[in-house]
Amino acid sequence: MTRPPEPLTTRRGFLRYLAGTPLLAGAGLYRWPFADSAAARFDDEIAAEIAQFVSEQGRVVYSPDQAVNVFDLEATARKNVPPSHFAYMATGVDGEVTLQANRDALARLQLRARRLVDVSQIDMSTEIFGRRWETPIVIQPCGSQKAFHPDGEVAVARAARARGHLQMLSTVTTSSVEEVNEARGEPVWYQLYPTNKWAVTEAILRRVEAAGCPVVVLTVDHPVGGNRETSARGSQEDPRDCSVCHLPRAEGFAGSVRRKPMFDGLDLTDVTGVGNPSATWDFVDRIKDTIGMRLVVKGIVTREDAELCIEHGVDGIVVSNHGGRNEPSGRATIESLPEVVEAVAGRVPVIVDGGFRRGTDMLKALALGATAVGIGRPYLWGLGAFGEAGVDAVLQMLRAELQRSMQLVGAPSLAALSRAILAR
Ligand code: GLV
Repeated sequence: MTRPPEPLTTRRGFLRYLAGTPLLAGAGLYRWPFADSAAARFDDEIAAEIAQFVSEQGRVVYSPDQAVNVFDLEATARKNVPPSHFAYMATGVDGEVTLQANRDALARLQLRARRLVDVSQIDMSTEIFGRRWETPIVIQPCGSQKAFHPDGEVAVARAARARGHLQMLSTVTTSSVEEVNEARGEPVWYQLYPTNKWAVTEAILRRVEAAGCPVVVLTVDHPVGGNRETSARGSQEDPRDCSVCHLPRAEGFAGSVRRKPMFDGLDLTDVTGVGNPSATWDFVDRIKDTIGMRLVVKGIVTREDAELCIEHGVDGIVVSNHGGRNEPSGRATIESLPEVVEAVAGRVPVIVDGGFRRGTDMLKALALGATAVGIGRPYLWGLGAFGEAGVDAVLQMLRAELQRSMQLVGAPSLAALSRAILAR
């Protein structure tokens, strides 16, 4: 990417130049805040930019190390990624009601910091299925990653490997599970879309089991696709011919996944979509009877379904509303989390995702009893902005933010986090 001039730096340079000009200084024209001078215009522009920085909008950056938070990478990815692809990533449903709820509910939760606790050493590690991970930050499954950067899922796997993060891989990837496992240096957890055709589901299960994946993560919040308005609008804005890579869903499932290697060689006749609208808890039993891998269910948002997961022998739960991109419930996952944690009562790990963008967001979920916290869009922003280096920047920032937020509330380890650090 060629580096365009960095606007703030350029203006700062200009202001410094003005400040250093004896003529202006002598004439009394250089005075803060440049009122009445030609520079006032620039001053206003800087003020406007700073006003934007204090929001969650981010600014375009030209190298990963310039990013001060994940929103800077979002702004950068928005410039790099084609409009239809960016809109597909960004979309919620029904005016983004659940997407917004995920962020709003996290912002409403306040922290109660304890003082005079030794926070010189912080242990962020968490244990899942007998394995200790250095941090509780998990890479959630997101589809079609080559739509955001040519290196796609492989770049994400390399970054996850470098920093030792648990990675879940989507069914609708643009790289195969074998390729990603190779890049990750060990088999990933595999997210399963059921489809309405058992032969397809079974073939995918057999393939990922053969690839060595230790865990299957069954997505149950997507019996049918949601009303993704932003995605639809983004496609209309995009002047490119999308059919070069994939056909519209309306023209049949096979065409829509023709660049999705996990469906290669499968008979997709009669497949209606990635979801299975007729699936019930029998389907969970059937998967358990078919595989030797652990089974995690993703998309649980109620106490009732958490209890059913335990009854059906599920090994773990992901509290998720699909990143606000499928159900129009308007309910945040951070609000669903407590009832699921209560129902589970420590019997299986509970991972949560949905709107986590900062270390403090993660801290709140961990205080409510989550075993780990998943991210989706933030690492896709990193990927769209700078490929593997951008994903690495996201992981690095979120790790640093979580560590710092633990220090600032007086919690040296995840075990020290409890609801007591939350004001409401
Ligand atoms: C795929 O999982 C999607 O949400 O588009």
